[in-house]
Amino acid sequence: MAAIATKANADVPAASGKLTNRRRFLDACRCRAVDRPPVWLMRQAGRALPEYRELKEKHSFLELIQTPELAAEVTLQPVRRFGFDAAILFSDILVIPEAMGQSYRFRDTGGLVMDFALRTKADIERLSVERVVERLSYVDQALRLLRKELGDQTALIGFSGSPWTLATFMMEGGSAEKYTRALKLFHEDRQTFYALAEKLTDAITAYLQMQINAGADVLQLFDSHGGQLAPTDFQEASGRWMRDIISELRTPNSELPTIVFSLGTHGNWDDLLATGASVLGIDWQFPLAHARRLLPANIALQGNLAPALLSDATPDVVATETRAVLETMRGRRGHIFNMGHGVPPNAKLENIAALVDTVRGFK
Ligand code: CP3
Repeated sequence: MAAIATKANADVPAASGKLTNRRRFLDACRCRAVDRPPVWLMRQAGRALPEYRELKEKHSFLELIQTPELAAEVTLQPVRRFGFDAAILFSDILVIPEAMGQSYRFRDTGGLVMDFALRTKADIERLSVERVVERLSYVDQALRLLRKELGDQTALIGFSGSPWTLATFMMEGGSAEKYTRALKLFHEDRQTFYALAEKLTDAITAYLQMQINAGADVLQLFDSHGGQLAPTDFQEASGRWMRDIISELRTPNSELPTIVFSLGTHGNWDDLLATGASVLGIDWQFPLAHARRLLPANIALQGNLAPALLSDATPDVVATETRAVLETMRGRRGHIFNMGHGVPPNAKLENIAALVDTVRGFK
């Protein structure tokens, strides 16, 4: 994004001793020297935590994300337990379709189902952009509570799904085994696909601007379905819309880094760099050492431990593999430790603890 990186790192210079978790995270996003890589995990809140499961006995998922106090509480649970450098707002990427007029609920058999699927041009025309910010005011309130609670200690990450990834869910009408309809629209009726992508881009830009104004330090775009595109289609179907969003965001008085996590699209580095993101998420199927070699020194890298280790390995193995990721990035400014995708719901707490302890002890 433009007009950033103007503010000097005034409050806690890296050389003068102890960095707060927030400063460490923000400095790493800007490829400045830090004492050790900051760590947070995608999907760090949620089903792996007993304190989350306990809340789920009393409240539905939608109640949790739509009640600012509860959303803030669930956001803080993993930070309290593990001391992550950043908190990520507890919400979902599907709040945008919902705010545009496509509600969703959980199927008893697993997965999500929307009230209807987008099928025609008229369905797309009916989607509302104007009311998105107002309908998502519960997110604004949750972020304000969190900013107050976290103060200068812990960074606060806001997020959205990318236009492409949201389009795949909206065209199927929920989660699906295969997401084929958005791709079909992209190939068969490009103008209608563009109309949908433009609407989503406008809605997401307004939503993320609201998150900046409410106190988010960093924004992440989840392009979880980017890898379903052929590399030759990625820019037109996904990359350019993320670029448009990032270039529109305004942060008048401070630096605001953006992270693009696009799963399975690491044949598209030029397009990913062109999004203007300050940090690129590296998925667990791509060697971090290659990413380090390929990417310019002013772009931070986030990743990329294999998620299955958290459910299927022992703490010793998790520690060894975590160290291997850290060693791969040793000496490279701008490494944010994360996994290469989200925490699996059956992750073992002792494995998450081993991961975090290893990163925090890394010298
Ligand atoms: O990272 C965090 O801790 C913040 C919370 C968060 C959730 N979803 C909570 C959630 C974030 C950042 C997301 C993003 C999200 N949501 C993505 C992108 C990341 C990725 O995993 O690729 C996607 C594709 C979704 C869509 C989604 N949300 C699906 C398909 C489902 C149902 C399948 C599932 O995983 O259960 C959800 C529900 C959801 N979102 C849950 C949580 C904790 C499970 C709700 C529950 O049963 O408690």
